[in-house]
Amino acid sequence: MSIKFADRMNKVQKSFIREILKVTENHEVISFAGGLPNPVSFPVEEIKKAAQKVLDENGSDVLQYSTTEGYLPLRQYIADRYYKRFGLKVNADEILITNGSQQGLDLIGKVLLNKEDDILLERPGYLGAIQAFSIFEPTFHSVTLKDDGVDTELLEKTLEKYKPKLFYTVPNFQNPSGITYSEENRKALASILNKYDTVLIEDDPYGELRFIGEDVPPVRTYLHDNSIMLGSFSKIVSPAMRLGWICAKVEIMDKLITAKQAADLHSNYFSQRVVYQYLTDNDIEDHIKKIRELYKKQRNCMVNAIEKYFPSEIKSTKPEGGMFLWVTLPEGISSLDLFDVAAKQNVAFVPGDPFYTGDKGINTFRLNYTNSSEEMIEEGIKRLAESIKQIISTR
Ligand SMILES: Cc1ncc(COP(=O)(O)O)c(C=O)c1O
Repeated sequence: MSIKFADRMNKVQKSFIREILKVTENHEVISFAGGLPNPVSFPVEEIKKAAQKVLDENGSDVLQYSTTEGYLPLRQYIADRYYKRFGLKVNADEILITNGSQQGLDLIGKVLLNKEDDILLERPGYLGAIQAFSIFEPTFHSVTLKDDGVDTELLEKTLEKYKPKLFYTVPNFQNPSGITYSEENRKALASILNKYDTVLIEDDPYGELRFIGEDVPPVRTYLHDNSIMLGSFSKIVSPAMRLGWICAKVEIMDKLITAKQAADLHSNYFSQRVVYQYLTDNDIEDHIKKIRELYKKQRNCMVNAIEKYFPSEIKSTKPEGGMFLWVTLPEGISSLDLFDVAAKQNVAFVPGDPFYTGDKGINTFRLNYTNSSEEMIEEGIKRLAESIKQIISTR
């Protein structure tokens, strides 16, 4: 018997990273492919205490069904943090707790996208967003990223031509490129968006992880309207908790709540209670500071190794925070081909192709530095340099 799947599934790529992770199952392989936080940063003892405390003090209450919107004190905490960090006034009823920010992308797709709607992404763009939005069969457009943010000239032309429903962005330490939008770029972006109905999606799982320079306010700060922000506890507490959020005005929120009810009733209530307890009983600033220090060392190690070993014609970004950096090979060299050569040298990365909608044979790739020791980073970059030299010499 053949199963007749929905047409929409033909449009969705299987996660490329999952395919790559198969290569990295071999323990000999040094992998810069994944996007995992460093597990030494997980607050195991503190989470253990928080879980014990919520169970001791609240018993069966924390094991019961709960509201779709999420645990109110946690939503209030998130709203207060926007104010504390950026002076941004947000009400708790503008926060919806989601099953990671990844679910936020799915819910946004459900409430905003019809088949063949025009939508705009960054180029390159977050693979998980491309996958989540593909389910709704939109028409993708993209706008190039420069070193200091989005190409505003191209943005204006694209907005004028296609009037896309949404523009999905990751303005801090973008996944995959590591690029951060400068304050000037954010202002320019907002002043262009203020002329259109396009909804800006500002996805910010890495914003707290700045290890160089000063924080820059969200683009939302400069926007009149039409903004949705996404956040996550995955990179500052633990991804296993699966807790993220959507911040949107109440009109959008109503629709999102209906979509979430249909999807899963509510996010894991026990996780919400444990994370809230953890945030209340511990100094989160101190915890985040430690993660920043750790990632800064790993990032410096990778940037230095690249300078030392890679041929000088190879370009790479120098992120000021987050977990990734982005490498550009000479024109005409496919990073998919490099992946095969590098796999033989037992080193892995994510080739650029899946971060673009439609293009093939791309000469870019992503490196993650947060999940390898400094020794592994040095050795892995050395091997990768050999692979690059090999592929350039056979050009
Ligand atoms: C840009 C971006 N958005 C969203 C996510 C999903 O994060 P989570 O669902 O764990 O909050 C990730 C994960 O790596 C990401 O890089």
